[in-house]
Amino acid sequence: MALMCVIALFALITAQCARATPPSFVLLFADDLGYGDLGCFGHPSSLTPNLDRLAAHGLRFTDFYVTSPVCSPSRAALLTGRYQTRSGIYPGVLYPASKGGLPLNETTIAELLKSKGYTTAIVGKWHLGIGLNGTYLPTRQGFDNYLGIPYSHDQGPCQNLTCFPPDVKCYGFCDQGVVTVPLMFNENIKQQPADFLQLEKAYSEFATQFITDAVRNNGPFFLYYPSHHTHYPQYAGADYAGKSPRGPFGDALMEFDGTVGKILQTLEETGVINNTLVFFTGDNGPELMRKSRGGNAGLMKCGKGTTYEGGMREPAIAYWPGSIQPGVTHALASSLDILPTFAKLAGAALPDVQLDGVDMTNILLNRGASERQTIFYYPIAPSEKYSVFAVRWKNFKAHYYTQGAIHSENPQDSNCSSLFLKRHDPPLLYNLEADPSENYNLNSTEWDSVLKQIQAVKEQFEASMVFGESEIAKGRDSALEPCCIPNCTPKPTCCLSTCKRSKHER
Ligand SMILES: *[C@@H]1O[C@H](CO)[C@@H](O)[C@H](O)[C@H]1NC(C)=O
Ligand SMILES: *[C@@H]1O[C@H](CO)[C@@H](O)[C@H](O)[C@H]1NC(C)=O
Ligand SMILES: *[C@@H]1O[C@H](CO)[C@@H](O)[C@H](O)[C@H]1NC(C)=O
Ligand SMILES: *[C@@H]1O[C@H](CO)[C@@H](O)[C@H](O)[C@H]1NC(C)=O
Ligand SMILES: *[C@@H]1O[C@H](CO)[C@@H](O)[C@H](O)[C@H]1NC(C)=O
Ligand SMILES: *[C@@H]1O[C@H](CO)[C@@H](O)[C@H](O)[C@H]1NC(C)=O
Repeated sequence: MALMCVIALFALITAQCARATPPSFVLLFADDLGYGDLGCFGHPSSLTPNLDRLAAHGLRFTDFYVTSPVCSPSRAALLTGRYQTRSGIYPGVLYPASKGGLPLNETTIAELLKSKGYTTAIVGKWHLGIGLNGTYLPTRQGFDNYLGIPYSHDQGPCQNLTCFPPDVKCYGFCDQGVVTVPLMFNENIKQQPADFLQLEKAYSEFATQFITDAVRNNGPFFLYYPSHHTHYPQYAGADYAGKSPRGPFGDALMEFDGTVGKILQTLEETGVINNTLVFFTGDNGPELMRKSRGGNAGLMKCGKGTTYEGGMREPAIAYWPGSIQPGVTHALASSLDILPTFAKLAGAALPDVQLDGVDMTNILLNRGASERQTIFYYPIAPSEKYSVFAVRWKNFKAHYYTQGAIHSENPQDSNCSSLFLKRHDPPLLYNLEADPSENYNLNSTEWDSVLKQIQAVKEQFEASMVFGESEIAKGRDSALEPCCIPNCTPKPTCCLSTCKRSKHER
């Protein structure tokens, strides 16, 4: 077999040889990025040459969904292939002082791949809990190494921090009454507050070094890069500040795109580009309330925090030269499907739990049909009482409830920010293929059979759903906030005053 491979190499049939070993995986995850924010998804002034390159030479998804319009639950579903309601990552998001986190008995993509000998790393935003003594950090959830801020970079005071060179302070208000955001390496605090001007450079160096080391050790690898970009407040280092025509949001996006470029370059230089599946998507829709500093949902309705399309339909790209043919797919797909897909490609057994994801390899490798016919839209705060707010079945979407979110406030559509919970009986019904913007409610009498079908799949789904105990309802304890001064008390004051002096020392 080895000899055949050598011959094949010399015959330049490298793709087939590479297939003999399982592929490596790079999972790129943007933050608060809208359906319309990338150049390759139609944005006129975003500069995303590297993501555009992935799209041009890979498979671009038009109908790709996440499971929540906010961060932590979306990430829990991505890493477990299960709805956040099962794992307990609801309602809302985790905080630096949260007692809970992604339960350790959930199987993450990293744990699954480790069982097949992969080396694993995460760089960037974790946001699935820290807990007492780092109980829920990525190093406890299947990742060999971690570099990053373990939650959102606005979950700590930022008004005195620099977001753009030379010393442009971060714009707007971040969370107060909490420690400044730390940069962690594995379970230790490396720097606090994190230096936003140097952060992306540190991330891309970590990512490229990880790939280089993994290739040197001949092992397949899994790199998960959940970026802080393009979440508010935007930041960028000297290489990208002021470089995009789109302003601060565009600069932040371009800096993220630059790291994507460095990762691709490393995959090429180390010779593994043809044996690595790179998958890109984002956690939830754009934060429209930030105006031109927020993202853009393109022609999708509303954004972050809502169960309209703009909140949960995301740009997505799968890139694997020689294995995935370039093109566009309209297949229905979800972040839930990434775990089963990676498992299939790695030859790993699926965890023995109720999974919500389905294998996407037929879409990726054969441009075949999707095994998925439904998408269920949970609101920020799911409950058994209200269940899913909306259901997509094939090309139809029915809204049983609608509610706006402060995150989605915008001048064009008051429904995006109206906090009034509106029940719809019969449900509002849209044909998303004819009307992706959810503008034209179909006549429920004429479309009664479709509504009945949707009601049936909804009931079937609900019968399968067992809500896990809420990890977020376990509450917070300020003593759990990460601080570079060991055992400092009381937080956050002990940390705010002293950490500035000791920053970089540890
Ligand atoms: C994890 O443990 C909790 C508490 O015992 C249990 O309710 C839950 O079903 C378990 N989850 C999995 C995926 O095994
Ligand atoms: C947390 O870690 C510290 C230092 O390793 C240890 O002294 C302490 O007992 C731990 N606390 C718990 C509850 O495990
Ligand atoms: C920010 O700077 C101001 C003025 O120097 C200071 O009074 C304040 O305590 C600082 N806030 C934080 C969170 O560091
Ligand atoms: C990847 O495959 C392409 C053909 O599909 C080939 O041109 C290229 O040299 C290969 N790259 C590596 C690093 O093997
Ligand atoms: C808001 O939604 C309702 C349906 O709940 C619809 O009748 C109304 O036209 C919408 N308003 C806007 C501005 O889109
Ligand atoms: C809905 O369709 C039914 C049956 O065709 C028709 O009688 C009714 O007037 C329609 N309703 C509206 C609001 O157009």
